[in-house]
Parts: sequence; C-alpha cells; structure tokens
Amino acid sequence: MTGGSGAERPRWREDFPVRWDADNYMTRRELAKFLTLGSGLLASVNVLIAFIGLNGALPTPPARRIAGVDEVAPGGSLLFRYPTADDPCILVRDALGAFEAFSQVCTHLSCAVVHRPDEQAFACPCHKGSFSSSDGRPLTGPPTRRLPRIVLEQHGADLVATGIKV
Ligand code: FES
Repeated sequence: MTGGSGAERPRWREDFPVRWDADNYMTRRELAKFLTLGSGLLASVNVLIAFIGLNGALPTPPARRIAGVDEVAPGGSLLFRYPTADDPCILVRDALGAFEAFSQVCTHLSCAVVHRPDEQAFACPCHKGSFSSSDGRPLTGPPTRRLPRIVLEQHGADLVATGIKV
C-alpha cells in the first residue's frame, strides 16, 4: 500500500513513459518555413496543371459522314454518334435550313437531351435543364456549361463531322 504523498509518480507514467528531453519541438521559424515551401509546391503544381490544360489540346477525331443534307427537314433533328459509338449527338436543322450539331449529353449530370423545335432548345428531362439549339449555351435549370459543339462541314450532299469544340 502506498503512502499517498504528492511526490509519488502516477501509475500511468509507468505505462506511457514520455521522455521530454528526447522529444523534438518544431520552432515557429521551422513551421513558417514548412508552410511557405508547402504553399510554393502547391502553387507550382497548379501552374503545371494550367499549362497542361492550355496546351494539351485533345487530338482531333477523324472526319465522318453523319447524314445526307436531305435526311433532315427544316425544324427537324437526327441522332447520331460521334466520334465513337459511345458518344450520342444530335443534329438539328433550323427553320431557315442551317445545320448545327451538339453532344446529346447534358453537361449537368449526363442525361440525354431532346430537341424541342418549338422552343429552339434542347430539354433535359432529368432536372429540367435546357440549352439553346443554335449555340448549345445553357438556358434554364442547373447546367452551367454549354453542350459541346460538333464541327460540321458540307461535302456536296453530305454532312461530315470533323471535330468537337468544347
Ligand atoms: S442532368 Fe440535365 S439538368 Fe441535370
């Protein structure tokens, strides 16, 4: 049985001994140096990512015929896939006969948009988003980015997709 004096070592110190003389402290100067170097490293990585984003343009997909000019009436639309079979797109022809094509994948959460010729828009049924059918910009709902545009060229009586503009 112990005597209960105040100088007695508590039992937990025997189970968890801490040797303060062997412990390392970080000085304020070392902490400031660490934070400065860490911030500098993060800033460098951001600059590198921005550089890659600006100069690392995606390769242009190969040109491909998507429809004949006569296959879509003014005010109509046609679904196609470009550049791969996993990329749904939509070709629209306005009342004046001009063609435009866009990705059919909503830029919010990737539902498929549908053509609404009366509204000159594409409607997304998932969250009531909509996009202009003339330039793909978002009109209503949660989408904030425009639909990627499919670059079109007319070769005689054929419409040919030659690339994508995000
Ligand atoms: S997925 Fe199109 S509006 Fe949400």
